Amino acid sequence: MKVKVSRKAHFNAAHRLYRKEWDDTKNYAIFGKCNNPNYHGHNYELIVSVTGEIDQETGFVVDMKILKDLIRSKIEDALDHKNLNVEVPEFKSLIPTAENIAIVIYNKLRPHVDSNKELEVVLYETPRNFVTYKG
Ligand code: NI
Repeated sequence: MKVKVSRKAHFNAAHRLYRKEWDDTKNYAIFGKCNNPNYHGHNYELIVSVTGEIDQETGFVVDMKILKDLIRSKIEDALDHKNLNVEVPEFKSLIPTAENIAIVIYNKLRPHVDSNKELEVVLYETPRNFVTYKG
């Protein structure tokens, strides 16, 4: 019997979406306000879910305290109050869209979650825009 366990988290970060191969007109046409050369911030809401069998001794799929500490150390410490383009190595050559941020978050967490459990990352860039990545 598999159960999905979820933990919510939050971080603020700045970004700019652009491709250096494209001129300003095309960058603005594709990325709109997120192309602002001076960067801008988003209040990202994150939901990390782990799905798996319940441990018969603890009754847990995953210890929430461990999951909470993992999200803090691997994600919040790395991304919160950062300029993603400038300060986060993963985005040196990767456009920091919500899609790519979700994949980076997944890849940071995956090695620390039991391999027999499924990991899912849901990332809200705005209250109405969100993406989901499950590996
Ligand atoms: Ni943006």
